[in-house]
Amino acid sequence: MNYRHAFHAGNFADILKHLVLTLCLEHLKAKPKPVRYIDSHSGIGAYDLASDEAERSPEWKDGVGKLLNADIPEEARPALEPYLNLIREMNPDGLKSYPGSPEIAARLLRENDRMHLCELHAADSVTLDDRYKRDKRVKVEKRDGYKAIEALVPPPEKRGLVLVDPPFEDRDELAHMAEAVMGAIGKWPTGTYVFWRSLKNLWAADRFDAGLAHWLITEQGIDPEKILRADLWVRDLASEGKLAGAGVVIVNPPWTLEEQLVGAMPWLADTLAQGDGYGWRVDGAFTDEDLEDLADD
Ligand SMILES: C[S@@+](CC[C@H](N)C(=O)[O-])C[C@H]1O[C@@H](n2cnc3c(N)ncnc32)[C@H](O)[C@@H]1O
Repeated sequence: MNYRHAFHAGNFADILKHLVLTLCLEHLKAKPKPVRYIDSHSGIGAYDLASDEAERSPEWKDGVGKLLNADIPEEARPALEPYLNLIREMNPDGLKSYPGSPEIAARLLRENDRMHLCELHAADSVTLDDRYKRDKRVKVEKRDGYKAIEALVPPPEKRGLVLVDPPFEDRDELAHMAEAVMGAIGKWPTGTYVFWRSLKNLWAADRFDAGLAHWLITEQGIDPEKILRADLWVRDLASEGKLAGAGVVIVNPPWTLEEQLVGAMPWLADTLAQGDGYGWRVDGAFTDEDLEDLADD
């Protein structure tokens, strides 16, 4: 448990994940019925950009620091504005803090919606609980998020979203994620799920995505259209140094999400680029060839 998200808060990887989270929650809110938000790896909720960690590793300066005052092209605005407005509301006097996934949900969700936050790190779970203990919509648990997901679904609200955002400290993180996810999706196939994974190893990420998509389509009868992948890399993925790429796989995304992301990603990739070989992709995590093979089986 060495990972501290404070070193990375507001970097390019957070931006894509939190952009997707914002758009998914906004879409769920379009109907009056209450929704449940489940965050398996919550962190501390919000991050002080003047903290020691953020000062020592100012990844946010190459991330959210480049977005807030940028001139955003028309086609990218529908996707980016809800996310950026939330950060602006949180920072009326200039960028000082960055919302983690719990804070994004807490700011977007309504009185009758509910949030279940899991954080295993002892001190971080206390910080998280302190932040939300007066918010009746929120339950914080110091608990293994992987084990929690399956136990927490289906929620009574029947509509909602599960975010799975592990630290990727462990070499087997993708396998743990796949195992937890399969248990949960089997029990609650209509929930929206957002899985974050790094692109340190493109082959491993592609294998996870394709394996998950294959299982969802063949075993759960999920329509291939209900699986979406969005990745962003800020320089050549083979380059040395800090994380160069990351993204999310979304199961049961809002039908509007793909178009919104495709509108924003070219500008986002250009703006957040840190070197040659940067890029993005928004696709179904499954090639047309894979789908044809499935149809032949
Ligand atoms: C990438 S951070 C989460 C960031 C957060 N979701 C956000 O977007 O603001 C991962 C968090 O998972 C916590 N963690 C690690 N293993 C865990 C586990 N098995 N269950 C729950 N939390 C865990 C870490 O302490 C860390 O705070």
